[in-house]
Amino acid sequence: MSATGKFHVAIIMDGNGRWAQRRGLPRSAGHVQGAKMVRRVVEASARAGIRTLTLYAFSSDNWGRPSPEVESLLRLLQCYLASETRRCLRNSVRINVIGRRDRLPSGLVRAIETSEQLTAHCTRMRLRIAVDYSSKHSILEAVRRAATGTLNTETFEALLAEVDHSAGDAGAVDLLIRTGGDQRLSDFLLWDCAYAELYFTDVLWPEFGEAGLHAALEDFGGRQRRFGKVLAESA
Ligand code: IPE
Ligand code: IPE
Ligand code: MG
Repeated sequence: MSATGKFHVAIIMDGNGRWAQRRGLPRSAGHVQGAKMVRRVVEASARAGIRTLTLYAFSSDNWGRPSPEVESLLRLLQCYLASETRRCLRNSVRINVIGRRDRLPSGLVRAIETSEQLTAHCTRMRLRIAVDYSSKHSILEAVRRAATGTLNTETFEALLAEVDHSAGDAGAVDLLIRTGGDQRLSDFLLWDCAYAELYFTDVLWPEFGEAGLHAALEDFGGRQRRFGKVLAESA
């Protein structure tokens, strides 16, 4: 894998609930374990030279889960931000939470703003955490905002970034990883994944680990990306 300046990896961190259920534990225990794995994979990603890492932490459709689970997920996110911001600062990782903020508890919004402000100058890796994120919603909202202006790929992507509270353009996704065995996008980064390499693994998120990341990066290294063109040697 050559980690170029723009290398963007996105992960659908799925399988926390099943990890817990297989151990006879409540689903929330799976989310706690999942949050621990986030820390490990963030640090492994920075070490691997990934420039942007976007993690799907809470989808807009996840509001439909039983309220105790929703509450525990949001609480966990807030704890994660409170405890990991210092670590990110030390590792020069810039935190940016993408997605809607108008439906989040005010304490969580404040925690997001604090983490973003404190790490705004960090340059080693950008960590984007998608919370109350729905790609379809973002696209619709960007289209609505575009109604009065010039619309092209560049202006549209700027609008999408604005809708998502994205700190600048993260660029297209190069590698999309989904753990947990399912092979679908679940409304994640639909625009950004137009030419992403897709990597699905049966491993559940709490067990993904640095080894899981390296396996995905190695697989990516063997992919041939053509972007609709033909390779120079066969032209
Ligand atoms: C992913 O794990 C975490 C979130 C969606 C927040 P799940 O909670 O979806 O776990 P499974 O898919 O039920 O195992
Ligand atoms: C996708 O997982 C969302 C996150 C990982 C945050 P889900 O478990 O919510 O998705 P589906 O229901 O399997 O598509
Ligand atoms: Mg799931």
